Formats: sequence, C-alpha cells, structure tokens
Amino acid sequence: MSEPLSVAVVGYGVMGRHHANVYAALPSVRLSAVVEPDHGRRAAAEELYGCATFVDLEAMLEALTVDAASIASPTSTHHALASRLLSQGVHVLVEKPVATKVSEARELAALSRSHGVVMQVGHITRFYKAVQQLRQAVRRPYLIEARRLTPNARIRDVGVILDLMIHDIDIVLGLVDSPVAGVTVAGHALNGTPFEDVAAAQITFANGCIARFLASRVAPDAERSLVVAEAQRTYRLDFLRAPHTEMAIYQARPTGDEGNHVHVDRHVIYEDNPLRKELAHFLARIRLSAAPIGTLDDDLRSLTLATDLIQQLRSNAQPLVAAHAD
Ligand SMILES: NC(=O)c1ccc[n+]([C@@H]2O[C@H](COP(=O)([O-])OP(=O)(O)OC[C@H]3O[C@@H](n4cnc5c(N)ncnc54)[C@H](O)[C@@H]3O)[C@@H](O)[C@H]2O)c1
Repeated sequence: MSEPLSVAVVGYGVMGRHHANVYAALPSVRLSAVVEPDHGRRAAAEELYGCATFVDLEAMLEALTVDAASIASPTSTHHALASRLLSQGVHVLVEKPVATKVSEARELAALSRSHGVVMQVGHITRFYKAVQQLRQAVRRPYLIEARRLTPNARIRDVGVILDLMIHDIDIVLGLVDSPVAGVTVAGHALNGTPFEDVAAAQITFANGCIARFLASRVAPDAERSLVVAEAQRTYRLDFLRAPHTEMAIYQARPTGDEGNHVHVDRHVIYEDNPLRKELAHFLARIRLSAAPIGTLDDDLRSLTLATDLIQQLRSNAQPLVAAHAD
C-alpha cells in the first residue's frame, strides 16, 4: 500500500468545504492543509479536520510540501494560485471556470505540461451518470435546450456565463461533434455590477445543430434542465432532483397504435456524489496516470466559447450590461 497523497484545499467557502469533506473521507489521501483568509472559516476547518490552516498560499508553501491541491477560491484568483502551485510541482484541481481569460487558461495548461503535473478543471457535470449515459446514447442532435436558473446571486466576481452557463456549454460541446458556426447572445446585469446576471445564448454548429442556453442567478425559482432532440427520440434531463437525475426519453409510437402517439420512458438515475467521483478521478490520474475524463483542450474549448459569448454580449449594439451597471 503506497503512502497517502498529501492534499491542500485552497479557499474554504461553499465549494472548498465540499472538497475538504470528500478528501477527509477518501482512503488514499490525507487532508494536510486548508488555505483561507477568513479567520472563522480557518478555525472551523481546524476543528473539523485537525489539519494545518494558513491565511494565504505563500504561508502554506513556506511551512509544508503537499502533493496536490484543490483550488476553490473565487474565479478571479484561480490563475495566480494555480500558477504558483503548478510551478512548485503540485498537482492541481481547479474549480470551474479554470480562469477568466483564455490566455490565462492556456498558460496554466502549458505550466502543467512543462512541470509534468496533473491539472484538472472541476467540470463536475462530466461525472454525472445521467450526462455520461446521454453521451453514450445521443448520436446526432439537431436541437439542444439548456436552462440553469437560480435565485442565488452569491458569486460576484464573474457573470452568469462563467458561473453557470459554462456547465451547459461543456455538456453541449461533449454532445455535438461539429465546429461552432455562429453565436448570438443577449443578457443584462441587475445587481449593479459590471457582470451579467441573466444571459440567453444560441449557438449554431456547422452541421446545423442549434443549442439554446438560458442562465440566470436572479430567477424566482431554481431550474436545471437539458433537452436534447434527435430524429428518433428526445431526451429530457431534470437535474434538480438530487441525489437523482430524472431522464425522460420520448419516442414516437409505431404507426397504427391507438391513443397517445408518444411513448415516454422515465429513468431515475442515482448520482452517488459526483464530486467524490471527480476528486477520486483526480487522485487516480496522479497515481495511475489514468486517462482524463475531459482533456485540457476540452476545458479550453468550453472557456473559449463562454468568453466569446461574453465579448459579444459586451459589444452588442445596445450594451445592456453596461447600461444596468451604471
Ligand atoms: N463545480 C461546481 O459546480 C461549482 C459550484 C459552485 C462554485 N464553483 C466554483 O468554485 C469557486 C469558489 O466558489 P464558492 O461558491 O465556493 O465561493 P465562496 O465565496 O463560497 O468561497 C470562496 C472562498 O475562497 C476564499 N478566498 C478568497 N481569496 C482567496 C485566496 N487568495 N486564497 C485562498 N482562499 C481565498 C474566500 O474567503 C472564501 O472562503 C468558484 O470558482 C466557483 O465558480 C464550482
């Protein structure tokens, strides 16, 4: 039995707490450190895990060496923190989105390659069984609709495209095997920040497939759904039934059948902690050089499309975001 890997969690907020909890329960890993500027959160981590805590990353790097780290701090800090860790030869799992700029993400990918360490981006939906089953089943979709709405506007350092829509962009790019031919986007900011709180986008692929996205963090009710239509059948996923995802598959009945012309199969898929799967996969990649579920190129494609949408939103003839940010 090899030594457990020593890991740190950088940023102990909502996501960092989940990462720490998972690492503390996994057998092959030791949670050695938590880095968090907030005193109360550091005290809570010390009490819960008995691990060392540090006010910033430099203090941790001076005091101890870790094999791997999860970065779960605000997105605007990812690039600086990940660069520092990768340059020290530390394997890094960085929460999505990997960075706010494509150039920064490319730099991080290059650093991970040049230092021979794993960098994985926390695209958690890749570890949902329902999404994996969908990828197996779908052949040639012609229409996709993704809705991700929440009343929770907690994240303020990026807009809703990088915060929420990027999950669906990543799923869609995994389903459609064709280059992007065009994008249209609209949206606005309601919270007095320079970042959009609502965004609607349409992406057309070279093979004719259309993908429509709606993301909002100022919605009255939460919704997380995905509809994928192809010639023979339509799939509808409802992600808001945690710990399950419901997948409904609609098919036309054979001609001649009486009554309803649509046959619906409903599957309830138990998700069994996708974050644990994501982190276990990260550790397996470090230990066993397991092939990645989603490559750095996939991460870059998702971020590039998301930042293209943001750029187009900002350069729209009527800049709704800027108007509301005044
Ligand atoms: N994969 C997912 O489904 C998912 C869900 C939510 C958030 N996220 C991502 O996780 C990241 C964190 O989001 P959150 O919701 O946990 O935010 P949060 O605000 O709850 O937590 C961030 C924590 O990082 C700390 N922090 C700030 N600067 C730091 C620094 N320089 N070094 C160390 N810690 C620092 C903050 O004090 C805070 O405790 C974001 O990038 C977000 O996009 C991913």
